[in-house]
Amino acid sequence: MASVTSLSDSVQQHLATALSATLPEAAGADPLLRRSDRADFQANGVMALAKKAKANPRELATRVVAEVATGDVIKDVEVSGPGFLNITITDAAIIRNLAARHADDTGRLGVPHAGQPGTTVVDYAQPNVAKEMHVGHLRSAVIGDSVVKLLEFTGENVVRRHHIGDWGTQFGMLIQYLDEHPHELDHKSGEVSGEEAMSNLDRLYKSARKLFDSDEEFKTRARRRVVDLQAGDPHTLATWQKFVDESKIYFYSVFEKLDMEISDPDIVGESGYNDMLAETCRLLEESGVAVRSEGALCVFFDDIKGPDGNPVPLIVQKSDGGYGYAATDLSAIRDRVFRLKATSLIYVVDARQSLHFKMVFETARRAGWLNEDVHAHQLAFGTVLGKDGKPFKTREGETVRLVDLLDEAIDRATAVVREKDVRHQLSEGEITERGAQVGIGAVKYADLSTSANRDYKFDLDQMVSLNGDTSVYLQYAYARIQSILRKAGEARPAAHPELDLHEAERALGLHADAFAAAVAEAAGEYAPHRMTAYLYQLASLFTSFYDKCPVLGADTPEQVANRLFLCDVTARTLHQGMALLGIRTPERL
Ligand code: ARG
Repeated sequence: MASVTSLSDSVQQHLATALSATLPEAAGADPLLRRSDRADFQANGVMALAKKAKANPRELATRVVAEVATGDVIKDVEVSGPGFLNITITDAAIIRNLAARHADDTGRLGVPHAGQPGTTVVDYAQPNVAKEMHVGHLRSAVIGDSVVKLLEFTGENVVRRHHIGDWGTQFGMLIQYLDEHPHELDHKSGEVSGEEAMSNLDRLYKSARKLFDSDEEFKTRARRRVVDLQAGDPHTLATWQKFVDESKIYFYSVFEKLDMEISDPDIVGESGYNDMLAETCRLLEESGVAVRSEGALCVFFDDIKGPDGNPVPLIVQKSDGGYGYAATDLSAIRDRVFRLKATSLIYVVDARQSLHFKMVFETARRAGWLNEDVHAHQLAFGTVLGKDGKPFKTREGETVRLVDLLDEAIDRATAVVREKDVRHQLSEGEITERGAQVGIGAVKYADLSTSANRDYKFDLDQMVSLNGDTSVYLQYAYARIQSILRKAGEARPAAHPELDLHEAERALGLHADAFAAAVAEAAGEYAPHRMTAYLYQLASLFTSFYDKCPVLGADTPEQVANRLFLCDVTARTLHQGMALLGIRTPERL
């Protein structure tokens, strides 16, 4: 299916042509076009050009206007203020453009693929083995999943990596503890659910931690066990595998609740790079990027110092020979760059790990693994706060379990769905299904709609509210359109470009036509909140269109059809946009 040129791009081209016709040295200059309240679009670029050419800006603008071809697309262009160009689009062009998008049966709405796709590895949804998942893991999963979908939609090759914490010191501790207390993981009955197993693992983790922190001899035995693990001792590995297998069952159950597809080959945890660790260290040491300091292999940075003013190094190998988080991440970079041929590496990780990534990326750059052609970026996210504005904790001061949070969101959303269904049109099964879709959608949307680097308050009342910038509002807008279309009984409403449009129709139509730009912006900046903002605006414009323009009660059959067509384009755009956020749009609510 051919991609559709947006009206904004057509206008941009028209203006660029007019600019270079007026001022040959302006060829290739950006007319700086944007949507405007005054007209449909406004261009500010003439002023800068006038300054450069030492011309009067209003005069230059007037000459440019004379060169702009009006007719099919541009109805009118005029000079305003100090030299702005105000551009009005023809009604027919709006409908024709949307008709071309509507005709795209792939669901892409005419959005073009990127010219030269690269390969991006997205590191996201990385919980830790033998530990409960918490709200931080929620953010990484939700943001990462949307970034993956946005990038794939633009045509980028995406490799997903779930860098789960399945290696390191804590496993020495766990394995040693389980060996010394062999019955602690015995199950009373035969079968255990993922969640039960997780609770057991969590309890075991806490006991092991307590002993590790209080008993120096145990600490030494546990540390030795890490080295056994890294050396591949079979008995140690077998105990380790038990922890991993049990944990994966739990992870999958949470991801399923989150309505998120995670596939096994993409789970390449820290352990997956074990065979590369020694070589990574050798390469860094031989090239002089890392140096031995008090037995440890370290990388130093001029600008990274501790509170005492002494440099804080990145420790690649500890003095006891053990490898840590940094060695694994550096090995993962080598794997992603040289084997997976990545051109971009994205890490969706808590902002509190920013220093780690700064040091890891700089080390990789010094080693030549990252360069102008391959860059790495931490998509750092902020903290989830409770209603009191402090990091989200239970009343007892413990970390909130992700599952409990999701269950509560689903309960609240189910109540909303039930309450809205005044005429009892939904079956009990439908209410449960919609409740989950609305509840999970609400959690995802709240997380995605503020820019990732900011903290946000986890406020379920606000999240499941029908009014305001929430997924529920968007889902209801979508369901309402579907109900209108069902009532009309038309499979594919026809566009009528010959009709005059109401202001509200124009505003809705122009915004719907800008979907491709919203996708490009959200994907290019790894910023799902750009997509939520676009969709919220779309739903708001739809609401005001629906208030002002009767659809089924419009004056003529052509106008009914054209308005149904606008409804359908809006619905398809909402559906596709929400899908890029990982949020469902139920047909009925
Ligand atoms: N498992 C880590 C955590 O829970 C996040 C891993 C991030 N990814 C990475 N390549 N280091 O904090």
